[in-house]
Amino acid sequence: MPGFHGTPTYGRVRRYFAHGDVLTGMPEKPIVIGSDHAGYDMKRMLIEELRALGRDVLDLGCDGPDSVDYPDFGKAVAEAIAEGKAERGVVVCGTGIGISIAANRNARVRAAVCHDETSVRLARAHNDANVLALGARLIGPEVAKGCLRVFLATEFAGGRHAVRVAKLGC
Ligand code: RB5
Repeated sequence: MPGFHGTPTYGRVRRYFAHGDVLTGMPEKPIVIGSDHAGYDMKRMLIEELRALGRDVLDLGCDGPDSVDYPDFGKAVAEAIAEGKAERGVVVCGTGIGISIAANRNARVRAAVCHDETSVRLARAHNDANVLALGARLIGPEVAKGCLRVFLATEFAGGRHAVRVAKLGC
């Protein structure tokens, strides 16, 4: 197929195309996203990116740069996934750490803090991470967009990893 980039090493990965990086065959449900004030600008950028990729977005805030508390938004994103409103989510705070801890308090969530595409690919393929956590004060927009694309494009590898993920109980 013209422009086909091939598949990364881990996991069953959906196809990338050279022109516009269009991703096909994505799940129907929206991607839920949330951030605190530190992640607000990056969240807005990621929402634009998701829409450019043809994905519906469920934005649970925050709604501006005023100071808020990251646990509220990590919890809201996690609950949207637990309630079946979305299959995958993205959370952003200054480091990605606080909001991932908040999301991981929910027993249906496997949130992974990742700042490079390899970590994201392995978090999807090996851990079946359903939430990507990013640190807006640690990475730039292009790295974040790359992480987002890999997060959407990589499927869980299953097999021995399914046994391990089942032991996580979430
Ligand atoms: C907010 O200042 C900052 O603490 C928060 O965004 C996050 O980095 C916490 O983990």
